[in-house]
Amino acid sequence: MDTTTVPQILDGNAIAAEIKTEVAADIERLHAQGIRSGLTVVMVGNHAASEIYVRNKVKTSAELGMNSELVTPPATVTTGELQALVSRLNVRDDVDGILIQTPLPAHVDKKLLDQAVAPEKDVDGFHPINVGLLQSGHPRLLPCTPAGIIEMLRRTGISIAGKHAVVVGRSDIVGKPMAMLLLHENATVTICHSKTKDLEGFCRTADILVAAIGKAGIITPQMVRPGAVLIDVGMNRITSQEDFARFFAGDAKREAAFKKNGSVLMGDFDPHAFALASYYTPVPGGVGPLTIAMLMANTVRAARLRRGLPVSK
Ligand code: GUN
Repeated sequence: MDTTTVPQILDGNAIAAEIKTEVAADIERLHAQGIRSGLTVVMVGNHAASEIYVRNKVKTSAELGMNSELVTPPATVTTGELQALVSRLNVRDDVDGILIQTPLPAHVDKKLLDQAVAPEKDVDGFHPINVGLLQSGHPRLLPCTPAGIIEMLRRTGISIAGKHAVVVGRSDIVGKPMAMLLLHENATVTICHSKTKDLEGFCRTADILVAAIGKAGIITPQMVRPGAVLIDVGMNRITSQEDFARFFAGDAKREAAFKKNGSVLMGDFDPHAFALASYYTPVPGGVGPLTIAMLMANTVRAARLRRGLPVSK
């Protein structure tokens, strides 16, 4: 890989805007046929970060011309009550996509809820049927974040076939489906996790390194092969002066934000690692916007699939 080029930023906002424009046009086409697509987001209880994410999802779907609905059961709601709520959404013809925002209160059984959502309305791609369809190479609705990452690589012209992709993190939401999508794109895939011995050694062999761990700055420059493509899924808030100085010393813009808010957002990569990359996703403004864009794309896809209308691959 070329190690002499200047690192290129993968601009998630720009790519997401492109996708959203396409989705809005498709929503318009469906509307002309008398179909109004709709997304319902269920957010249980109060969770500060979720509230921001959810507001963004609801706002974006409305902006693109969809019916947009937010349901907010209290934190005391039972799994049974949530299953009943989901069952009502499953049979509503004006609801194409159902998303249950996580994290959920500890007493709620997430697995049962994932199974309660009708697979054809499962815009998160978490239902076992959709997980199985992805695994078997016949994907129908894909988890938004990994699908967005593939879309970003594709639209940027970054080839995946034959590359060694290392995915750090094995969550059902990101790590596992990411690995599967990269495999379907003919990458050689390694999944690393908290029990991996010699994480550094694996990461250093990556042509494409995806970090989805949720630990600020854990991927250091020593762990990165010069010229690698770095994809940062982490979204961590750092609050200590020590962390700030370690990661962002000399960054005047971030320092002003840190002084004002007492915290800044950062990913799983130590930002110094980005200097070694051929391409990298910044935090914020990298992977995050793609997740929302793909949720919108999934909702319209679900609207089409449910009505037997054609969809892209
Ligand atoms: N919480 C954080 N990311 C996600 C996501 O992609 N889907 C849902 N449902 N909850 C999340």
